[in-house]
Amino acid sequence: MQILVFPERKSLSLHAAKMFAAQIEAVPESVLGLATGSTPLGLYQELALQHREGLNLSGVTTFNLDEYVGIDPDHEASFNQFMKTNLFQHVNIPAAQTDIPRGHAGDLAAECSRYEQAIRNAGGIDLQLLGIGHNGHIGFNEPNTPFETVTHVVTLAAKTRVANARYFGAEPSQVPEKAISAGIKTIMQAKKIILLAAGEDKAETVAAAVEGPVTTSLPASVLQLHPQVWFLLDTDAAGKLSSNNPDLLRA
Ligand code: F6R
Repeated sequence: MQILVFPERKSLSLHAAKMFAAQIEAVPESVLGLATGSTPLGLYQELALQHREGLNLSGVTTFNLDEYVGIDPDHEASFNQFMKTNLFQHVNIPAAQTDIPRGHAGDLAAECSRYEQAIRNAGGIDLQLLGIGHNGHIGFNEPNTPFETVTHVVTLAAKTRVANARYFGAEPSQVPEKAISAGIKTIMQAKKIILLAAGEDKAETVAAAVEGPVTTSLPASVLQLHPQVWFLLDTDAAGKLSSNNPDLLRA
């Protein structure tokens, strides 16, 4: 594990974008695992900028971590819309090479199998982007999800619905109760993983994920077992790490 700490969000996003661009330049047909939420917005803006300056993403295939169950892909709060607005409209990844769990599918179990198989058929994920929930979730794998889980239907934790209420008129009861999420095993099978975290409110969770025991009660702690993982943090999110952590580098 490598932990890189940046003075602010901007430099963290720039560094993450450089890592993604390097991956795409080295392997133009890269399979990328993508996340939604506030944390990757700066990275997506930077990738859009790099595309305008010549970065070619036409060979890339993407898989998103998750989508709400029961909302239409063109619902304004769907992760489908989020990805279009914040990344896909600004780069040249062909739509047929972008996949997001179909939360509106009639047969959710079949959709979970389709999604997991689609990732396998694409050759697996080369570089997976993650954020982290206040309860340590990765994707929408909430505490106590078994580490062996592949793409599955999840019941969102109350804390997650409160955190995401901002996309649903600030009303947690409007946030869908369920989602489809790539599983912890799906995530751990990615060749490389970059987790981004910014803000003081993530500091305690980040410290527990990185320095605490590996436990299903804090899903992100499983990343300690991955051979190629980078935590990119701003100073605030790194605020509760012990200063003598041997994996910590300040940028
Ligand atoms: C998003 C996802 C979640 C978020 C996490 C942090 O696709 O799977 O795990 O990464 O909830 O969200 P933000 O970045 O909004 O704090």
